[in-house]
Amino acid sequence: EKGGYPHFMLKEIFEQPDCIHDCMRGRINLEGTNVVLSAIIDYKERLLAAKRFVIVACGTSWHAALIGKHLIESFCRIPVEVEYASEFRYRDPVIDSSDVVIAISQSGETADTLAAIELAKSRGAFIYGICNAIGSSIPRATNTGSYIHVGPEIGVASTKAFTGQVTVLTMLALTLAREKRTIDETQYLAIVRELGQIPGKMKEVLKLNDRIAELSKIFTYVHNFIYLGRGYSYPVALEGALKLKEISYIHAEGYPAAEMKHGPIALIDAEMPVVVIATQNGLYEKVLSNIQEIKARKGRVIAIVTKGDTVIGKIADICIELPETMECLGPLITTVPLQLLAYHIAVCKGMDVDRPRNLAKSVTVE
Ligand code: F6R
Repeated sequence: EKGGYPHFMLKEIFEQPDCIHDCMRGRINLEGTNVVLSAIIDYKERLLAAKRFVIVACGTSWHAALIGKHLIESFCRIPVEVEYASEFRYRDPVIDSSDVVIAISQSGETADTLAAIELAKSRGAFIYGICNAIGSSIPRATNTGSYIHVGPEIGVASTKAFTGQVTVLTMLALTLAREKRTIDETQYLAIVRELGQIPGKMKEVLKLNDRIAELSKIFTYVHNFIYLGRGYSYPVALEGALKLKEISYIHAEGYPAAEMKHGPIALIDAEMPVVVIATQNGLYEKVLSNIQEIKARKGRVIAIVTKGDTVIGKIADICIELPETMECLGPLITTVPLQLLAYHIAVCKGMDVDRPRNLAKSVTVE
């Protein structure tokens, strides 16, 4: 049942290229020139009339929501707010019929997310679901939505569901942007084409598995980790830290890299490993100087870089090189080595990675 893998989590990490391919199947045309999420087209008027989007979710799905905000705001120029479902439902939020609420949930059963949907519905908002489990409670409670189609996720730590959610959010933003005419045609075509290359690039990243397994041994006895990223990579840093916490029980924090100097930098010393997502994009130079600040305080830097980077290699303690992609699709690539790092560190520590203590796969109580 684990297909020859020692754990479901590793199997599900390795399934990601196929899952993303399945998720895009029938939604991107064969020529790679057009992407259509049918639910967007069916409810076009309602969605285009929205003054704002609010995305509600929990845990890993909430991290996907943060990436969704970035994608929808950049491509569609619609303001997006991201909320923890558990906070939203008890805050008497300002929400009405001019809002569209996107609810993201792998299991489709998360109690807080379901309650947030019911609240928003009672105020007249239109509800769009992004779920994995077919026929679960959340898709039944929404007005419309899109399944991520990544297949059952058994490992408690969410992996392929996260990349599936980000893929659907990308397709949603692209479909809507084209309808709204807020995206330049050349840019649109370039992104759709690159999206089609993502499964192949994920496969390349998975070839790093042995190397990541080897380097994970160094971190077996570490007590703390910091993860840093900026822009699209900031939610990836949060997700990397969550994966490590969940299955290895090592304390880990994700931060936007520039927030370091506002407090967390006080934690840096020779004992502190810092994972920095430093791929080549608009904020590369800034992240580079964040790495220099960490090295000046003797922190141990594990840098996630773009293949061929010759600068960071000289300063970081460990470099993980990834294939190049567009900035807006970066999370689909940069997330994978962080999943592998968390997995292998947990295995080195002898933890039960598929069934971590205190956690349930679907959180049906608040
Ligand atoms: C993390 C994890 C949890 C879930 C969260 C939401 O690996 O699995 O943080 O992401 O409980 O679950 P869903 O997406 O089913 O609503």
